[in-house]
Amino acid sequence: MSSMISLEDVKKVYRMGDTKVEALEDADVNIEDGEFVAVMGPSGSGKSTLMNMVGALDIPTEGEVSIGGEDVSDFGEDELALLRSRKIGFIFQQFNLIPSMNAAENVALPMLFRGASKKKRMERAEELLERVGLGERMHHMPSELSGGQRQRVSIARALSNDPDIILADEPTGNLDTETGENIMNLLTELNDEGKTIVMVTHDENDAEYADRIIKIVDGKTGVEA
Ligand SMILES: Nc1ncnc2c1ncn2[C@@H]1O[C@H](COP(=O)(O)OP(=O)(O)OP(=O)(O)O)[C@@H](O)[C@H]1O
Ligand SMILES: [Mg+2]
Repeated sequence: MSSMISLEDVKKVYRMGDTKVEALEDADVNIEDGEFVAVMGPSGSGKSTLMNMVGALDIPTEGEVSIGGEDVSDFGEDELALLRSRKIGFIFQQFNLIPSMNAAENVALPMLFRGASKKKRMERAEELLERVGLGERMHHMPSELSGGQRQRVSIARALSNDPDIILADEPTGNLDTETGENIMNLLTELNDEGKTIVMVTHDENDAEYADRIIKIVDGKTGVEA
């Protein structure tokens, strides 16, 4: 197996006027191609900051980050955006669907930036919605879907550009237990198909689906089997 994501001696300092916040003090993470990893730690420990590095949303203050073999430590905004659209799909606790677009349009949206024709985009969106079990709900608006269905739309959207990596920040945080299990089973299927998955969770049951847990405390990473 080869490394998909690596952080070496990463520090992230946020400056707010005169004060400095060390959100990450010493993060060392190596995630292999095809792994399913859970990230756990107390509130304020640096999980979202870590995910911002892993998701190419931000660069470190110090240290090295590489994603899919590319060193992104010095990337600018445009380079980060391009890498995200090529390699990474995002799933959020709040689903983050566009309320004025139906399910298929939401799923097709990230493909706009890849320059595919509207027909191609809608065809692929419909395929992906079938894939997540929402073939009957393609033209429903987000407000006409249940929480679990909305999360499945957001998973289909995350898959639209066929990413190597899927990042999920508390994907079951707004769902009841049974619906959450459905979502975890879907993530497991995607992992079985070869996607590398990194998931932040507070939920011990969700963490059981992962191959291993990265613990983070006070901006420092450690690993638990
Ligand atoms: N943009 C920012 N500017 C200043 N400080 C920040 C910023 N983002 C995060 N921090 C600080 O960095 C630390 C880590 O924050 P982070 O959001 O990574 O924690 P978290 O582990 O995701 O917490 P939670 O479980 O509550 O979401 C916190 O002390 C937070 O206040
Ligand atoms: Mg957070």
